[in-house]
Amino acid sequence: MTNLTLKNKKIIINAGASGIGWATAKICLSKGAYVYLCDVNEKFLKKVKKHPLNNKKLFSYICDASNEDHVSNFFRQIKKKTKKIDSLINNVGIAGPTGTIEKLSSKDWEKTLKTNVISHFYFTKLAIPLIKKNKGGSIINFSSGAGIMGFPLRSPYAASKWAVVGVSKTLAMELGKFKIRVNVICPGTIKGDRMVRVIKDKSKFLKISKKKIEKDFISMASMNCWIFEEDIGKMCSFLISDDASRISGQVIGVDGNAIRLD
Ligand SMILES: NC(=O)c1ccc[n+]([C@@H]2O[C@H](COP(=O)([O-])OP(=O)(O)OC[C@H]3O[C@@H](n4cnc5c(N)ncnc54)[C@H](O)[C@@H]3O)[C@@H](O)[C@H]2O)c1
Repeated sequence: MTNLTLKNKKIIINAGASGIGWATAKICLSKGAYVYLCDVNEKFLKKVKKHPLNNKKLFSYICDASNEDHVSNFFRQIKKKTKKIDSLINNVGIAGPTGTIEKLSSKDWEKTLKTNVISHFYFTKLAIPLIKKNKGGSIINFSSGAGIMGFPLRSPYAASKWAVVGVSKTLAMELGKFKIRVNVICPGTIKGDRMVRVIKDKSKFLKISKKKIEKDFISMASMNCWIFEEDIGKMCSFLISDDASRISGQVIGVDGNAIRLD
């Protein structure tokens, strides 16, 4: 697997200018791929544009993944560069609000579902014709441990991540005959800015120290460890590669065996 190549494969990554998406982009570029990424955050995009890897193989665009017009525009830009693609990584997904159902607003619920599920529809619909032109390829959708287990205080997030699994299983069946593989990655507790925010919100809601919440999160994995963004990027690069050419319809945890989420 260390020799795995993605030479000249063309990969779209949404929400790719920081976090797991950016770690994945860097791994794909280092293995010879072209990467077309988008993000809603201009500050992160500026950093990407200044990065030494920003060469002839990396293209980055501003795009709110939950806005269908923005996504259409992103694909118009991509089509100026390439007629076909090998892979779509639907990485976009926000944490959503923290709280019991009675305390959550419809606005927050709707935003979480729009960003985490409906956005995937916008990208997938436009990516499929480009992957068909390639005569096959791979779609990776991001779920979470919250897409296979309940997740107290995060009901909209759990709803969105279970939905991702349902859509992906269905797509794998619809697209198999076109040699398009569809898989789901469920990342565990990732060391990074997002978990800092999640831990802060949970600590505030439950009035428990951040240290205790952090320890609890880590203990939810049998391996009692943080997961790193690069662990997820490596799984993406494997699933895109020819080494995974017969893997489809799978829900894959990269989580040190997460056994509970509470
Ligand atoms: N971090 C974790 O612990 C964790 C655990 C399980 C699953 N996941 C999932 O992995 C994926 C990536 O997570 P992450 O931790 O890298 O996320 P993150 O919160 O660090 O955000 C990554 C990027 O998403 C961008 N983004 C947010 N909303 C966007 C939008 N509407 N349009 C375009 N870009 C947008 C941000 O600007 C940022 O650059 C998500 O689907 C997330 O739900 C993460």
